[in-house]
Amino acid sequence: MEKAWVVDFGSQYSLLIVRRIRELGVYAELLPWNKLPSFLPPSVKGLVFSGSYASVSKGPPLPEEWIGQRPILAICYSAQWIATKGGGSVVESHAREYGPALLELTAPSPLWKEVPSPTRVWMSHSDSITSLPHGSRPIARTQDIPYAAYELPEKHIYAVQFHPEVVHTEKGLILLRNFLYEICGFRGGWRPENEIEQIIASLQASMPEGRAVGAMSGGIDSTVAAILVHKAIGSRFQGFFIDTGLLRQGEAEEVMEAYAQVGLPVRRIRAHKPFFTALRGLTDPELKRKAVGRVFIEIFEDEARHLPEVRYLVQGTIYPDVVESGSGLSATIKSHHNVGGLPERLSLKLIEPLRLFFKDEVRALGRQLGLPERFLSRHPFPGPGLAVRIVGEVTPERVARLRQADAIFMQVLEEKGWLYRSWQAFAVLLPQRSVGVAGDQRQYGETIVLRAVNSTDGMTAEPTPLPHEILSEAARRILAQVADISRVVYDLSTKPPATIEWE
Ligand code: XMP
Repeated sequence: MEKAWVVDFGSQYSLLIVRRIRELGVYAELLPWNKLPSFLPPSVKGLVFSGSYASVSKGPPLPEEWIGQRPILAICYSAQWIATKGGGSVVESHAREYGPALLELTAPSPLWKEVPSPTRVWMSHSDSITSLPHGSRPIARTQDIPYAAYELPEKHIYAVQFHPEVVHTEKGLILLRNFLYEICGFRGGWRPENEIEQIIASLQASMPEGRAVGAMSGGIDSTVAAILVHKAIGSRFQGFFIDTGLLRQGEAEEVMEAYAQVGLPVRRIRAHKPFFTALRGLTDPELKRKAVGRVFIEIFEDEARHLPEVRYLVQGTIYPDVVESGSGLSATIKSHHNVGGLPERLSLKLIEPLRLFFKDEVRALGRQLGLPERFLSRHPFPGPGLAVRIVGEVTPERVARLRQADAIFMQVLEEKGWLYRSWQAFAVLLPQRSVGVAGDQRQYGETIVLRAVNSTDGMTAEPTPLPHEILSEAARRILAQVADISRVVYDLSTKPPATIEWE
């Protein structure tokens, strides 16, 4: 399969370049600069060299042996590195040029097909090119920098000092498309859905015999991973959905229904009691998380041991998890995954069919595999469940209180058409008591926090700007309907510095 390689020199945008290329119908992979193979496979038809946090004099080296072998799009740091190596020069400035700039195209280039001049681009660099490498020609400038882009035709290098991959570069996608299709000659047409057969075939090859088990969380990733494995090995797959008692109202039923709809063999294990027993008396967030994780593993292990010939554990690890784990080549289980430690304890081989896909691609796979739209658009939900949304001790009564308030908030959002305009929305229960009046009685009820955030990947977030009318309607209904709640507040914190969850 034809593909593009994106070499990461330590830019915060590297993964975004991969995403954008895939959006344009070309399969792309991210390779860290210090783990490059010596040989460029024929399937790699184009290279993108990323920016970097470092300045040219102190930063990582580019793979010189690859230069000239394939067309290269060099972004920012890489454009500067190539300039200095080829006899040009770069000045290091201490002031970072950061933000929008107007790019003026000064010479024709295949990169500029359908790009108007001037066009807005996004800059983020501190070094700047002051003279170009031998054999190159300038093709664009901005008011502040004379060589905002250049070409080195002999070596098929196209270099830009701005970031085409960020949305603030108006014609960034067109520029990337030009590089891929006009310059590298990709055929395109890559779509994650077209990979399904291939994924299933390779799963079959890697699981020749024995059973596979999956800890189903109700999330999209574990579900799509399980469907693929089930398609590959049929009844040799068995999923377990552990109902911890810490799920939202109606969630366990909804999730089991979705599994049934796609014919996935998943057994629901009702285990409220052991979770509540383990959580009794605990108020420290870390201890609560650990307790939930420990009980989860014990129950799952017990179930899996009752099945004969279990060899594999299916996990919904996705591409950003793999890349964030550091090497870019191997995944470590996310520490917050409930199954941490299980593969070793049961000597199971880890099966991760989604390790090369992004979240939105997993959604596309799920859609193709027949998962209902409602299931695909669910908000993310943390593994330890409502335990991390209840500050203080987790008791069945407090879980019931939070569930009811959370369901009311979701109902109001849905009625007003805001549920899917927010990336994640939920209620939190605080033990803070305050005075209120219920009927003729004074009461000292607990506090509900409403939280709704906008985000793309959960790494950063800002509060969803919910209309006041929605917030006050949710507050009114919660105060009227949920016993022992005296106050409702809205959380306006951004991430960073706050996190999305409260614990
Ligand atoms: P934070 O609170 O770290 O959350 O800003 C970022 C995103 O991750 C989810 N989250 C978790 N997911 N297990 C999970 O599977 C966890 O322990 C966990 N903690 C946070 C959170 O809901 C948000 O979407």
